[in-house]
Amino acid sequence: MIDARTTNVNQTEELAAAVASLVRPRDIIVLSGEMGAGKTAFVRGFAAGIGVSPDETVSSPTFTLVHTYDTGTVIVHHADLYRLGRLSDVEDLGLRELADLGDVVVVEWGDVAEEVLGHHLVVSLEVDDDNEDSRHIVVSVIGQTWDSRWEQLKRALAKWGD
Ligand SMILES: Nc1ncnc2c1ncn2[C@@H]1O[C@H](COP(=O)(O)OP(=O)(O)O)[C@@H](O)[C@H]1O
Ligand SMILES: [Mg+2]
Repeated sequence: MIDARTTNVNQTEELAAAVASLVRPRDIIVLSGEMGAGKTAFVRGFAAGIGVSPDETVSSPTFTLVHTYDTGTVIVHHADLYRLGRLSDVEDLGLRELADLGDVVVVEWGDVAEEVLGHHLVVSLEVDDDNEDSRHIVVSVIGQTWDSRWEQLKRALAKWGD
């Protein structure tokens, strides 16, 4: 696990961009945390970091379920599972298949669908009790896909070390 703390939204976006710098095609990033924790903010920084045009507006795909961005090098799918009640609905979205095809997938509320998503990085964001602009961010992993990058990721996130 990697523990980090950010004290404003820009820092969370920067941290996300640092994660994006180590991302590879086929990666799935799962974001967990309550409403307002900063999941969409994370995706905004992540998208910028991976090369999505700054002209694209990154917003929560709460009603459309998935937004797709093409950087020219990689396709990034941004999903929000908040409205999906059943795991079979999540399976129907085919997120894992998109990753298997070589795309990158970022999933808000993805922790509810851990077993459907297979190997992935988990980023959980939590609002600090004593500071509404502070977030405790814990990065962990399910599966082996980050083993060879883990030390690099630790170094990349060290400046936000908790
Ligand atoms: N350190 C921080 N990291 C992320 N967001 C923060 C932070 N401090 C304040 N905020 C604010 O919290 C809100 C997070 O909203 P959002 O990213 O939409 O959350 P979620 O997608 O988890 O519901 C934004 O209004 C953002 O400006
Ligand atoms: Mg959101």
